[in-house]
Amino acid sequence: MSLPDKVKIVEVSPRDGLQNEKEFVATTGKIQLIDRLSEAGFQNIEAASFVSPKWVPQMADGAEVMAGIRRRPGTIYSALTPNLRGFEAALAAGVDEAVIFGAASEAFSQRNINCSIAESIARFEPVAEAAKAAGLRLRGSISCALGCPYQGETPIESVVDVARRMLALGCDEIDVADTIGVGTAVQVGRVMRAVTEIVDPSRVSGHFHDTYGQSLANIMAAMEAGISIFHTSVAGIGGCPYAKGATGNVATEDVLYMMRGLGIETGVDLDAVVDIGQWISHHIGHKSSSRAGNALAARKAA
Ligand code: HMG
Ligand code: MG
Repeated sequence: MSLPDKVKIVEVSPRDGLQNEKEFVATTGKIQLIDRLSEAGFQNIEAASFVSPKWVPQMADGAEVMAGIRRRPGTIYSALTPNLRGFEAALAAGVDEAVIFGAASEAFSQRNINCSIAESIARFEPVAEAAKAAGLRLRGSISCALGCPYQGETPIESVVDVARRMLALGCDEIDVADTIGVGTAVQVGRVMRAVTEIVDPSRVSGHFHDTYGQSLANIMAAMEAGISIFHTSVAGIGGCPYAKGATGNVATEDVLYMMRGLGIETGVDLDAVVDIGQWISHHIGHKSSSRAGNALAARKAA
């Protein structure tokens, strides 16, 4: 299959990135990050999480973050909503898209959301109904689609099975997530081809953590399988608190640089994102893990 002419980049650093920081990132910093990302042209930003603050204290200020941001018309602001309580809080905060998140691995489902896969789907049913009734977009995220930190390999049938259930719940988009970044290109191609047998490829996204440095190759493999939505995190920040040792999502700067080289449109200003990556890294006190981001920043400074 040929590569797409354009892709949608979903910037997940305000959620997937900041949820994993040891120190709580102040609400004003989160708002500034989202505002700068909005200005850089992202069509979709994952802005917050309405989960238990006991489980993920870093995301406890979702309502304040949503209230403080300057919305760019046309940008979709998403938030994680694990249950009806989270959904109601997200709705009140004005999110555009609710994200239900399950796993293709039983062990990870228990560790991350404290229930089995089947129980999680039952818990998502009222969330999905409420999202549809409120006219919100609904996205379903499938963790451990390419491997699990507790169970090891994930059978492709488990991923397809969860995708089928999420589709039945009315998800507009379904994320195939490599939570711990272990997948490799041929495997990604296989999983994406299996999922797109039941879900239209225009509604499937790749959410790759870059722990083993495979994400760019995996994105190429996914594009060859017809996928054109990818989740990225500026400066590569992030990870899941329930997937120890896993690093952040593939860095946005690296993906934008690759897309530019391939002549694939993203609608996002790479130059602005390089500055945001350097700024947020300084703000949270780590060096950026984006190779392209650091190289482009060094060239600018020279
Ligand atoms: P639980 O303990 O099974 O459920 O948690 P519960 O209903 O007994 O609630 C426990 C406590 O949380 C109670 O408080 C509730 O009131 C409260 P207490 O009575 O003990 O004082 N609570 C809430 N508070 C605020 N908002 C809510 C909410 N719900 C309950 N919505 C639950 C179940 C799902 C809530 C919990 O397990 C949880 O919050 N987990 C968080 C999981 C999470 O955020 N993980 C990281 C994000 S997922 C991810 O990173 C993967 C992804 O990036 C894709 C990939 O890479 O794989 C998406
Ligand atoms: Mg993730």
